[in-house]
Amino acid sequence: MELHNSGLQLSSAGRVRLDLQPRFVMRLQLKPQPLGRAHRNRSEPVQPGTKAIPMSSSQFLARQLGNPSKVVGRFLAPMWNKRNQALHDATFASLALDINDRVLEVGSGGGSLLGRIASVTTEGVVVGVDISPAMISYCTRRHRPLIDSGRLALACASADAIPYPDCHFNKICTVNSVFYWPNVFDALAEFRRLLEVSGTFVMCFTCRSSLQRKRFAEHIRLYEPQDIADMMTSSGFQNLHQQLLLDRHRQFVCITAS
Ligand SMILES: C[S@@+](CC[C@H](N)C(=O)[O-])C[C@H]1O[C@@H](n2cnc3c(N)ncnc32)[C@H](O)[C@@H]1O
Repeated sequence: MELHNSGLQLSSAGRVRLDLQPRFVMRLQLKPQPLGRAHRNRSEPVQPGTKAIPMSSSQFLARQLGNPSKVVGRFLAPMWNKRNQALHDATFASLALDINDRVLEVGSGGGSLLGRIASVTTEGVVVGVDISPAMISYCTRRHRPLIDSGRLALACASADAIPYPDCHFNKICTVNSVFYWPNVFDALAEFRRLLEVSGTFVMCFTCRSSLQRKRFAEHIRLYEPQDIADMMTSSGFQNLHQQLLLDRHRQFVCITAS
């Protein structure tokens, strides 16, 4: 089974095969853990009498794709950076960046788009937000010089609670992260709060039609372009422009709004 157009293959025994490049193949044994053990907050005691609920391999991988751990994130981050290139290109172009821009990327993952944005916003600032502490530390190592120079900041936070003041950004973008947000309306309201009036918002994601046959996809929320466009309109975004695009892995959409 191929996962998320990512080169990740899963056998029924829970063995994951990761094809990073045609000549570079890595194998990683992922043992599906009982839900109670794998996802319990370590500080929470196990309640006496509660039963661990077994988690399928596809559910485990869906969770990792939405909030990678340190070990799995080490493989996912470079893979996303490479395989999501066409989505990053479309988002980068739609942002129409200026050197003074204050840009937020939500669900910044491996941080390749953050680096591209920062290469233009030499007089501004870029902020990357991700719910995964592993992705934040990966990006911190990758972008140390940009962080030290004050041109890039990173925050471990959820899309619906971003620790910045109102109207702090003039551009906000997000790529292939929406599937994992607990509530898209809450996140859109948060972006509306953070975006200055007439600022630009770019939402790019793989369409449901390209993901729905993947086994892990039954554990995430899939959207067609119009689903998200309607939610954006009801959340106060205007001047929507949708670009339906294809790369060799999938069909995706890049929606720009203000
Ligand atoms: C499929 S990856 C995409 C990464 C990157 N945007 C790219 O295109 O390469 C999804 C990312 O969204 C992050 N994420 C998932 N749920 C989130 C949430 N509620 N708030 C912020 N980030 C989230 C994950 O940790 C992961 O890094």
